[in-house]
Amino acid sequence: MKGIILHGGTGTRLRPITYSDVKQLLTIAGKPTSEYALLDMLDAGIKEIGIVIGSVGGEEVKKYYGDGSKWNCSIKYIYQERPLGIAHAIGLCRNFVGEDSFVVYLGDNVMQDHLTEPGNDFENNKMDAYLMLVNVKNPEKFGVCEVRDNRIVSLEEKPKKPRSNLAVSGVYFLRPSIFRYIDMLKPSWRGEYEIMEALQLLLERNGKIGYKIIRGWFKDTGTVSDFLECNRLVLENIKGNSDPSMLNVSGRVEIGKNSVIDENSRVLGPCYIGNDVTIENSYIGPYTSIGDGCRIKGTEIENSVLMDHCTVDFLDGRIIFESIIGPNCTINSGYSKTRRTSIIAGRDSKMNI
Ligand code: TTP
Repeated sequence: MKGIILHGGTGTRLRPITYSDVKQLLTIAGKPTSEYALLDMLDAGIKEIGIVIGSVGGEEVKKYYGDGSKWNCSIKYIYQERPLGIAHAIGLCRNFVGEDSFVVYLGDNVMQDHLTEPGNDFENNKMDAYLMLVNVKNPEKFGVCEVRDNRIVSLEEKPKKPRSNLAVSGVYFLRPSIFRYIDMLKPSWRGEYEIMEALQLLLERNGKIGYKIIRGWFKDTGTVSDFLECNRLVLENIKGNSDPSMLNVSGRVEIGKNSVIDENSRVLGPCYIGNDVTIENSYIGPYTSIGDGCRIKGTEIENSVLMDHCTVDFLDGRIIFESIIGPNCTINSGYSKTRRTSIIAGRDSKMNI
């Protein structure tokens, strides 16, 4: 089986961060969201991976993943000139796929479950497609599946009256037969070629679509609140490697190489602190991910993600919470008396607050 990880799209819901950075390379606990997908694939023994890149940020994706040798796999790139939809992106992969079965993973989706068991179920039962389903409270916002006698009997995109609470997640096991249905699609009302419509066509023509209901958590990181929630879920599962003799670090905290937390600072896990980070006179609270090379001074931060090489220097100890701060940002104290600050900042931002 081959793997495909999508890195196209425009990421409008995560602007301004996605003006300068590819959504799927935004890091949570030191890893791009799409690297979690790659690791899932490797864990399931999938070693031939195609990455779909779009016109924005494709070079950064190539720079990060290279030829895959760092992960001991082979990575090929497929270029999607315009973000014409998930089915369009998959349709571009037919040469890469050849005659093999394949699993598609949306690069901004992160899932706790593994791919091995559903992959085996899909292959052993010779399904035409296989979906990972999530129980949701608001199915009208998703592609929804109706299941009868352990078979998917209907698929509807964002139905007004959903027939179940089972939403289709961003992981699809497919075979080359899907390309026939992708070729039959017309753009939807939003101008995209929809994978749900291709799956509906497959179902109408008696295709066998299997499914697994995801047991653990599943997160699409496409909005600020979902991204922060995914950060919380990933950190909830972090093991922690801090030295028990560090009295100012408590809870599960993963600390990278050459990072220094001074004696006037306190870190309360679950937290991730990357390599070469300096923390002085600060409090780092639960559910905070701090990227490599960050400098934090005189600041309280909680429930936030700071990407690589950010400097935060608040002389009067202000609180940053529920924030996503893109790479290489500098935040200094200005004249405001506001103590609590929530920030969504793209790469290279500079602010006095
Ligand atoms: P979406 O989150 O639905 O779309 P988007 O990334 O453009 O974001 P927004 O809606 O905020 O503008 O895309 C889901 C995944 O599929 C995501 O990882 C990007 C990927 N994708 C492509 O690779 N090509 C495409 O043409 C589209 C629409 C999405």
